Amino acid sequence: MTGWDTAAASAESLQAAGYLADERIAQVVFLSDQLGKPILAEGPAGVGKTSLALAIAAATGRRLVRLQCYEGLDEAKALYEWNYHKQLLRLQSDEGKSWYEIEGDIFTEEFLLERPLLEAIRSEDPVVLLIDEVDRVEMETEALLLEVLDAFQVTIPELGTVIAKHRPVVVLTSNNTRELSEALKRRCLFLHIDYPTVDRERRILLQQVPDLPDAMADKIARTVRSIRQLAVRKAPSVSESLDWARTLLALGVEDVDAKITVGTLEVLLKYQSDIEKAARELLES
Ligand SMILES: Nc1ncnc2c1ncn2[C@@H]1O[C@H](COP(=O)(O)OP(=O)(O)O)[C@@H](O)[C@H]1O
Ligand SMILES: [Mg+2]
Repeated sequence: MTGWDTAAASAESLQAAGYLADERIAQVVFLSDQLGKPILAEGPAGVGKTSLALAIAAATGRRLVRLQCYEGLDEAKALYEWNYHKQLLRLQSDEGKSWYEIEGDIFTEEFLLERPLLEAIRSEDPVVLLIDEVDRVEMETEALLLEVLDAFQVTIPELGTVIAKHRPVVVLTSNNTRELSEALKRRCLFLHIDYPTVDRERRILLQQVPDLPDAMADKIARTVRSIRQLAVRKAPSVSESLDWARTLLALGVEDVDAKITVGTLEVLLKYQSDIEKAARELLES
């Protein structure tokens, strides 16, 4: 589809798009391209699941179409709905016409509200379809997603069947708040993204925070890793490492010692009990 002939080649394009993939991520991205299968990226918040989809779009020059999932997301918001308000207005001027004529009037393109799934299928140009945080939708909506992913076609009773011109590259993400259906998992290449290694996190920091000195990036990556190992309620993610790096730069810090770290723990941790635990540990060591 995109012309990558090795996993290393896909890693290189992702890196050029600002995303540092490890070998496994690069391999799954490569295979998804080769096999035409969706990627299901699962893992804790803030480890680079959503940004992977953004990077694939940037790396392949495809437009990104994003379906943000939430509880209560339904077909009307995921696929399409009719613009009732506009239809009603048209009805008023259709007085005297037969229902058959009216129907032909108001169930037309002009009254169709296209939502992300339909947009991705009907797109003239090839797209990356991001179905973000799919674990938040109800089973019913998950079944609808399955249907779309199976066929890449949609039947709108009043208009007919639309078949995708280009098969979208699909990335689903999940924060694992609930188990997804076996059927959905079977359709996808599964990719667990975990916290990065110290070295990869250091490189992510250097990439995303341009003014950060190398030694500080290394210290930040190591400190964050040691805090993750404390069994805190909410471990700091890559997002928090990046926030912390920017905080330290803004404060003009040059040497990240225990005192500075304790003084800025609010950026890394979101529970008072976690902050106290980490502070104790840092001051003792
Ligand atoms: N491998 C990576 N390369 C570059 N930036 C990354 C990487 N992983 C995470 N990030 C950065 O970390 C932040 C959080 O990533 P995001 O994709 O929003 O996480 P998630 O969707 O898993 O919650 C973003 O600012 C993103 O740019
Ligand atoms: Mg995300």
